[in-house]
Amino acid sequence: MENKKEYIGKVLVAGATGKTGQWVVKRLLQYGVPVRVFARDKAKAIRLFGEGVEIVEGKVQSASDIGLAVRGCDAVISALGSSSYSGESSPDEVERDGVKRLVDEAAKAGVKHFGLVSSLFVTQWYHPLNLFAGVLHKKWEAEEHVRAVFSQSPLSYTIVRPGGLKDGEPLKHKLQVDTGDRLWNGWTNRSDVAELLVVALWTEKAKNKTFGVINESEEEQSGLEQYYDLLPG
Ligand SMILES: NC(=O)c1ccc[n+]([C@@H]2O[C@H](COP(=O)([O-])OP(=O)(O)OC[C@H]3O[C@@H](n4cnc5c(N)ncnc54)[C@H](OP(=O)(O)O)[C@@H]3O)[C@@H](O)[C@H]2O)c1
Repeated sequence: MENKKEYIGKVLVAGATGKTGQWVVKRLLQYGVPVRVFARDKAKAIRLFGEGVEIVEGKVQSASDIGLAVRGCDAVISALGSSSYSGESSPDEVERDGVKRLVDEAAKAGVKHFGLVSSLFVTQWYHPLNLFAGVLHKKWEAEEHVRAVFSQSPLSYTIVRPGGLKDGEPLKHKLQVDTGDRLWNGWTNRSDVAELLVVALWTEKAKNKTFGVINESEEEQSGLEQYYDLLPG
């Protein structure tokens, strides 16, 4: 929390109207970090966040919409997710191409840090979840692009790979983290995924990390920065 005071940038949240994205916005606001929301449905974003939060309407299919959204932002956090097998909300369009476009436009605009919600098992090509239009593989391709573009100093990234997502308040679970995609299933609270990506903005050890996370046990946490100390490198 001490270092947080040094974080003064504005953060663009993509997928903000989704269940995890809403938590990202909530946690950023909780820490007093300026937020801009990128949403394909402005009315929905206003319903969720009110008129006080800056909203840029646009689609992940449009480089120019994204270009406007990222302008002037210091960091981007993406909680984008697909919801249909094909078309505008498919894994191809959202998880792979949408995220890649966001990465490219962010880097072009001078964004310094990229945070991404990915998933456990993205390295496992034969995982049954890939039956949904290869969704894990599309996420893997997006991850690779994030690492390729944002790993060169002064740029940085943090990629969180949660287990099955659950609703509920943040900081209520002791977590298990791992960098090798070896976690064997488990649940993760969306709110903790959001918290991990938000504190990553000002946590040096979170920079250029890709890791899986699941709940270990119910146990109140005072913060989640400590989990970055457990990651190698
Ligand atoms: N469900 C799980 O158990 C699980 C496990 C591991 C990882 N994950 C991953 O975690 C991430 C977050 O999950 P979630 O449940 O919070 O997702 P969610 O509630 O479905 O939210 C997805 C977000 O993406 C946006 N979106 C979808 N298509 C879009 C498009 N074409 N243009 C712009 N925005 C678009 C949605 O906008 P609208 O609000 O307009 O629809 C929404 O804001 C996803 O990537 C998911 O795959 C999920």
